[in-house]
Amino acid sequence: MSAQEDFMAETELRARLKAQEKTIEALMDTVERQSSGEVPSLELLSQNLNLERVVQRKTETLRQQGEELQQALHDLQLTQTQLLQANKLESVGQLAAGIAHEINTPVQFIGTNIEFLKESFQNVKRLVDVVEEQIRALSEGADIQRSLKALTDMLAEIDWDYLSEELPTAIGQSQDGIHRITKIVQAMKEFSHPSSKEKVKNDLNKLIDTTVIVATNEWKYVADVRTEFDPELPLVCCLADELGQVVLNILVNAAHAIESKLSSDPQKKKGTITISTRHDQQHVVIRIADTGSGIPKEIQGRVFDPFFTTKVVGKGTGQGLAIAHDVVTQKHGGTLNLETEPGKGTVFIIRLPIE
Ligand SMILES: Nc1ncnc2c1ncn2[C@@H]1O[C@H](COP(=O)(O)OP(=O)(O)OP(=O)(O)O)[C@@H](O)[C@H]1O
Ligand SMILES: [Mg+2]
Repeated sequence: MSAQEDFMAETELRARLKAQEKTIEALMDTVERQSSGEVPSLELLSQNLNLERVVQRKTETLRQQGEELQQALHDLQLTQTQLLQANKLESVGQLAAGIAHEINTPVQFIGTNIEFLKESFQNVKRLVDVVEEQIRALSEGADIQRSLKALTDMLAEIDWDYLSEELPTAIGQSQDGIHRITKIVQAMKEFSHPSSKEKVKNDLNKLIDTTVIVATNEWKYVADVRTEFDPELPLVCCLADELGQVVLNILVNAAHAIESKLSSDPQKKKGTITISTRHDQQHVVIRIADTGSGIPKEIQGRVFDPFFTTKVVGKGTGQGLAIAHDVVTQKHGGTLNLETEPGKGTVFIIRLPIE
């Protein structure tokens, strides 16, 4: 069954359960109304008895059906949880592919640079060999002009001017590459670290930084990400990995919204995603703003609905914001709102209590 069908089935089951409860209530009402008549006639009494038996039988069947429906609902909820889990796994898989790509690029140029350093070392070694040879010759009284010529020839042969410029660059680039890999690996470790199921105090600025790095491959072709962090942001009591998932979902949506705007922009200028944090006495506020397509008025009220998506199959399942909303409001007692201007962009505003 597809996720959408599952959701419809659950809604239908809930409606049926509600209808059954209403039927029972109505039957009970009838019995009560009839039996509270002033002087019950014999006929009324037997009618009541009959009615009561009918109600009893009906109630029993309904109770049984109710139990079955409850079980079916429970099964469905289980499937839904599994689906959410699968969705999360899918996004982890997608991120992993992106990260592999992110790591692969620096690894490749580090490889090329090391090859260059190896060749250059051979050349420098040839130069040093000549230097040693000439020192020896000179100390044995050789002609100084000949030694000088041998040395300058060798410098030209190995193209020392070029090497002395390129070697430091190659070393610097390799160091940059290693730094980039270290940063990505560190972020991955933090992001995937199985944090506790209990709420603990967390630095949300750091959590956002980590998420941005882990998701680099999702945004870097379409946008620049800017962060404007509150330097005094207090630690927030929260479920770190779930909030990381919220930021990730909103960030990926922002990148998609910019991408879809770019596809109709002839200049194809990159967009911007700005993530800021602020706080007051009791709350922290995270704002994630994009310069993407914005959300048309007619669907603004539906974006948090489970399985609501405007994306093609494979690009979106419509669960990102539903999960985000649940995590922020239900699990953290916060609020998740949006402000949007079609054609200009959208801001998602997460407000969380500090304690
Ligand atoms: N920043 C945004 N700008 C414009 N539209 C957005 C933005 N964020 C969400 N939307 C709209 O809300 C819909 C629902 O978003 P949601 O994250 O729940 O699902 P999805 O991105 O379509 O799929 P999933 O997140 O499950 O991969 C999107 O399909 C899109 O139409
Ligand atoms: Mg999404």
